[in-house]
Amino acid sequence: MQWLENTRAFMRRDQVFDIVRPSMSSGRLDTRHGPVLYLEDVTVSFDGFRALDALTLYIDDGELRCIIGPNGAGKSTMMDVITGRTRPDDGAAWFGQRLDLLRMDETEIARAGIGRKFQKPTVFPQHRVVENLELAMAGPRGVWSALTARLDPPTQERIDEVLEEIGLANDGHVLAGQLSHGQKQWLEIGMLLMQNPRVLLVDEPVAGMTHQEMDRTAELLTRLAGRHSVVVVEHDMEFVRSIARKVTVLHQGSVLAEGSMEEVQADPRVIEVYLGE
Ligand SMILES: Nc1ncnc2c1ncn2[C@@H]1O[C@H](COP(=O)(O)OP(=O)(O)OP(=O)(O)O)[C@@H](O)[C@H]1O
Ligand SMILES: [Mg+2]
Repeated sequence: MQWLENTRAFMRRDQVFDIVRPSMSSGRLDTRHGPVLYLEDVTVSFDGFRALDALTLYIDDGELRCIIGPNGAGKSTMMDVITGRTRPDDGAAWFGQRLDLLRMDETEIARAGIGRKFQKPTVFPQHRVVENLELAMAGPRGVWSALTARLDPPTQERIDEVLEEIGLANDGHVLAGQLSHGQKQWLEIGMLLMQNPRVLLVDEPVAGMTHQEMDRTAELLTRLAGRHSVVVVEHDMEFVRSIARKVTVLHQGSVLAEGSMEEVQADPRVIEVYLGE
């Protein structure tokens, strides 16, 4: 595919290290040529079935991207590839110009600055909200020392910032298990924010939320874009409409359409396979 070669040449990664340095802070991530995430010709097969079929997708630094598409289109599989849970059979996946995601494991990818939120909240219900945030920052220090050690001032500051950001400033001492479903989702986003990720992947964030919670989630994700690249997979079209800038429609493992919400909604192919349902 000539155009792909051209794109590659244009966005040439100036150097590829044999041994990637996943500890390299995401602040030093090289995104000079634009995108922060590159998926090129990514194919994932399960017993001969192509969940991703030569998927090519670029995510810009700081953008808010919505990914929509019918059940089974490959949206979660795409996130699995980016986070190292699933290895593609073919293709390339890069984080910035230099980090080859296909040579990194899940932990290295998370440390390098890609955070993922799964659909079901996975907070620690028996711990307080603040403790959940501390645990999220603990990393290699381990859970025990995170809970027993005195918090250094920058950590405390970061926790306060994140509590404010996710709208739980008054709930720091509530047990996470007692939060509403929506609050648990925000706490989990907060736990990702503790690592200050460059990219946030959010899979179906508003499933099961009340309308009010959805509105607040829309505000939160919109605020986070700019400082982070935010990739949101969601079926709720009202929600997508409320946050959409650039929208990518996946179908049968590859990109069917891409553009503004208005553009993709008016695309006859999109109406046929998805929105017309
Ligand atoms: N581990 C696996 N083994 C076999 N098939 C799988 C596996 N993971 C996903 N698939 C299949 O790959 C296809 C894409 O699945 P995926 O979960 O990525 O879709 P999705 O777009 O996230 O769908 P949904 O909107 O329902 O969440 C589906 O047909 C699914 O059954
Ligand atoms: Mg999915």
